Amino acid sequence: MNDDKAVGAESVLEALGRVKYAGFPRDIVTLGMVEGVDVAAGRARVRVRLPGGRALPDALRGQMAEALAPLGLALDVEAVQATPPPAAPPRAPEPTEDLLPDVKAVLAVSSAKGGVGKSTVASNLACAFAAAGHRTGLLDADVHGPSLPIVMGIQDRPTAAGGKRFHPVTRHGVRCISMGFFLDDTSPVIWRGPLVAGLIQQFLGDCVWGPLDVLVVDLPPGTGDAQLTLAQRVRLTGAVLVTTPQQVALRDVVRGLAMFRQVEVPILGVVENMSFFRCPECGEDEYLFGRDGGRRLAEQAGLPLLAQIPIEPAIREQGDAGEPIVCSAPASEAGRAFARLAATLAPSLCFAEPRAASPNA
Ligand SMILES: Nc1ncnc2c1ncn2[C@@H]1O[C@H](COP(=O)(O)OP(=O)(O)OP(=O)(O)O)[C@@H](O)[C@H]1O
Ligand SMILES: [Mg+2]
Repeated sequence: MNDDKAVGAESVLEALGRVKYAGFPRDIVTLGMVEGVDVAAGRARVRVRLPGGRALPDALRGQMAEALAPLGLALDVEAVQATPPPAAPPRAPEPTEDLLPDVKAVLAVSSAKGGVGKSTVASNLACAFAAAGHRTGLLDADVHGPSLPIVMGIQDRPTAAGGKRFHPVTRHGVRCISMGFFLDDTSPVIWRGPLVAGLIQQFLGDCVWGPLDVLVVDLPPGTGDAQLTLAQRVRLTGAVLVTTPQQVALRDVVRGLAMFRQVEVPILGVVENMSFFRCPECGEDEYLFGRDGGRRLAEQAGLPLLAQIPIEPAIREQGDAGEPIVCSAPASEAGRAFARLAATLAPSLCFAEPRAASPNA
């Protein structure tokens, strides 16, 4: 993409997001066919990758030109026929060994940008799954900014389980592991790719999770090594994308979509966080960060909007105090929204039947 023309390129992507590829229910942007867009002097230069090195069908070129016409842009298409460009990350190899044989489903919580509430969603979702009777684990894969010990209120450290192995720490009915447990003041702040990959592999392999219905993984923001390693080492059942109404840069999300598609992980939908603020005085909803940005983005990407989580000061306060709102105030608007999100996701994760008692026995 041409960063100088970010706005132009974004509008082009948005317009192209309405062009379907013949025979597919999805559009060419969601399908990952649009590799790049440059806008200059009233022309949009669009690089399109075509499956199997085919030529660009005239009908598709016509549809693309039509989509760009309202923007006042003429279309130049550069068809990319051969192998992917060298800049593209390598394709993930097949997992060789199942590191989590006793885990029924692994759900990645991801976001294109930082600070949108990914850890908040991951921790509340994990607690909501546990409260619904599912055996649940939570893995903080964010080695650069681990927040699980804080948001889950964990002071204990994992206990040894023999050899290199260790037990997770159970809190709010959720079995938790975080890089934060292993960091001290002397740890390097900057972790390099291979080190990150090794750490996550260790979390997965050396941790005695026991049988789990679902392992929720709080991924670091973006599309880097941690995400690829995870996808290589476990069968991620699915991923959810967290966004806020104003952080709806479609091209960031398109990058996220492309990454999960590359490793063949289904994206189950979009969670819009900080959607609205319900005034405690008058009960009116106020849209402080704009309205329905996440919904529009989900529509453009052809994904379901799974939840709209309100802004509640208690989420931050209780999060800082180690009490996810699902546990501290389950009847609050946000507490109920997280519980609904867990119920919405359970069937896609194929463990819909809750276990009766003792969820983490
Ligand atoms: N719906 C909400 N209402 C109020 N505060 C929220 C809400 N969601 C998240 N927060 C607060 O916003 C801050 C950022 O949230 P969080 O740490 O979950 O984001 P993140 O995406 O995990 O960030 P990072 O990229 O740094 O890992 C936290 O202080 C959190 O308590
Ligand atoms: Mg986080």
